Amino acid sequence: MSRDGSPSPDKSTAPQISSGHPASAATCDAGIFIDDCLGKSAIGIVWSGRMIPEDGDDDDFTIPIAVKMAVPRENADPEADEDERDTIREEGLIYDYFAKSGTHGITPRYFGVFEDAVGTVAVILENGGTALKTFQNLANDQAQKLFAKAVEMHSAGVRHHDLVPRNVVRDSDGDLKIIDFHVAKTGHRCRGSLKCKELLQLSAALGL
Ligand SMILES: Nc1ncnc2c1ncn2[C@@H]1O[C@H](COP(=O)(O)OP(=O)(O)OP(=O)(O)O)[C@@H](O)[C@H]1O
Ligand SMILES: [Mg+2]
Repeated sequence: MSRDGSPSPDKSTAPQISSGHPASAATCDAGIFIDDCLGKSAIGIVWSGRMIPEDGDDDDFTIPIAVKMAVPRENADPEADEDERDTIREEGLIYDYFAKSGTHGITPRYFGVFEDAVGTVAVILENGGTALKTFQNLANDQAQKLFAKAVEMHSAGVRHHDLVPRNVVRDSDGDLKIIDFHVAKTGHRCRGSLKCKELLQLSAALGL
């Protein structure tokens, strides 16, 4: 809903999470406002919105965010395997892992995984800009910087498993960040950019 609470077009299905119970969070005392649908994914919906600290109602304090969210399935079989909400929680663990290993700047800033009383699970990230459609239009220095982030990610022990253009976002300064870690794995022992399959594939896709 909008900040003043009024409904807006195409947002009638927007969940009304204005606060949550952080399972793991870098920020507390924050209000979350959801505005628009950024995209639908296999595991849920990604919304754009703003995070506003309670003590700062000034636009300077608002942080543009992306909220990747999964809701409980209707008539879910309790015996069934993992649902999408587990996948979101696991994605949050990867962002947590980066934070704890002191690896910053590879992904948009991570604020935590939030769950509400009805079982909605949401991972909250800074909005990193627009997803790429292709790697072809990247200038060589941008491609190099993106590749350096992938190398750093691997050095931290994370293999992404889906390093494609739509999982890279670019902000208004041209800064590129990697997103979408729901199939990523920790424990990767990287053999370096000349031997590691994922890095070799990315290097080729970037034309390096
Ligand atoms: N932090 C973010 N900043 C900006 N946009 C984002 C962010 N996170 C997600 N998005 C947008 O939402 C889209 C879907 O997010 P994400 O890739 O995490 O979901 P997904 O389930 O993997 O979807 P897909 O299967 O299409 O890759 C992204 O391609 C991007 O356009
Ligand atoms: Mg994706």
